Amino acid sequence: MISIKMSIIYLFILTSTAFAGRGAELFKTCIRCHGVNGEGKLAEKSPQIAGQHEWYTIKALNDFISGARKNPVMLPYIKNLSQSDFAELSAYIRKLKVK
Ligand code: HEC
Repeated sequence: MISIKMSIIYLFILTSTAFAGRGAELFKTCIRCHGVNGEGKLAEKSPQIAGQHEWYTIKALNDFISGARKNPVMLPYIKNLSQSDFAELSAYIRKLKVK
């Protein structure tokens, strides 16, 4: 029989991998412009975003949505995402390292 302690550990592993997995999944749409490691692309005029603080990434995304910052090329990719999507994306981006 699995102990309660083990169940909690399994649950933790399951939810934490699901969390990371969703960030990676969501990031796939960003790769075209920001690169696979978030290194940015001069040709797309898209900045490096890898390693950025989560609060900054979340603020930037919300500023694009609100129009406080204009980014018409990127808007279609983020306009249908939720705040929890932004949180997961920003956590994933925070861990990216430019090679
Ligand atoms: C079609 C190209 C394109 C796609 C796709 C795209 N971006 Fe961008 N992104 C840009 C450009 C161009 C800028 C620079 C905008 C500016 O001048 O402020 C930018 C800026 C940003 C910034 C602000 C960086 C800073 O230092 O202020 C963040 C954060 C960001 N993108 C995240 C994302 C995420 C997350 C995704 C995927 C959901 C994504 N982008 C998809 C083109 C794109």
